[in-house]
Amino acid sequence: MTALKIPQHVAIIMDGNGRWAEQHGLPRIEGHRKGTQAVEHILKAAEDFGVKNITLFAFSVENWNRPKLEVAALMQLLDSFLKEQEEQLVKRGMRLRVLGRTSELPTSTQKLLRKTEQATQAFDKLTVGLALNYGSRTEVVDAVKAITRDTQEGRLDLNELDYDVFRQYLYTKEMPDPDLIIRTSGECRLSNFLLLQSAYSEIYLSDVLWPDFDQAEFGAALKAYASRERRFGKTAQQLTS
Ligand code: IPE
Ligand code: IPE
Ligand code: MG
Repeated sequence: MTALKIPQHVAIIMDGNGRWAEQHGLPRIEGHRKGTQAVEHILKAAEDFGVKNITLFAFSVENWNRPKLEVAALMQLLDSFLKEQEEQLVKRGMRLRVLGRTSELPTSTQKLLRKTEQATQAFDKLTVGLALNYGSRTEVVDAVKAITRDTQEGRLDLNELDYDVFRQYLYTKEMPDPDLIIRTSGECRLSNFLLLQSAYSEIYLSDVLWPDFDQAEFGAALKAYASRERRFGKTAQQLTS
């Protein structure tokens, strides 16, 4: 078997938990619970395929507009997921990074996130970015605020500002741009996810609902990625000469 061209960074819009629950005659939260199991399978798959960075879109800034009970249940599920996963992450040399406006999350969740980030900060086998209270537009606004502050306080010279400097102000500063973005559940939109970072990402849409997304589906996405020609503005001829 020829070796697949493996993306350095895969970002996933994990969508379809609610529809999965509905199809199984279950409350929506059961879809989210099953979705956390899919996360475990995909972390294992990423590890096995040698992907170095994976970002998971778990909660958007717009998701606060869901029914209060669903939001509360999601936060609880997140807390128990973090408690369960810390040991596994450490054991497997995986590093957790949170992307988003974390200060607006419940205090218990913030504490757990900080604790897990600290416990895993020395690892580099797989960096797991967890996008929580994430939205690209708020990310850009936060970046512009920080840049303004740094400029006013003399830490940054505006003449030096280019995209390489700008990207250092994004939540994703420690990760390369995603090579591949996967969205499950058949939806064809980015929903405010990594809008700048996806400038040259390959996009893979799967009809599978997130709770059913497994190692084989992940493998199919990697295979599709490997067959794509990424031109970054050049001509196809330039790439082969
Ligand atoms: C994705 O599944 C999980 C979150 C957005 C938190 P959804 O909950 O959006 O599932 P659908 O789209 O309603 O099926
Ligand atoms: C995007 O899914 C957010 C996450 C996967 C966390 P949504 O289900 O919230 O997106 P829309 O509302 O269908 O665009
Ligand atoms: Mg959805």
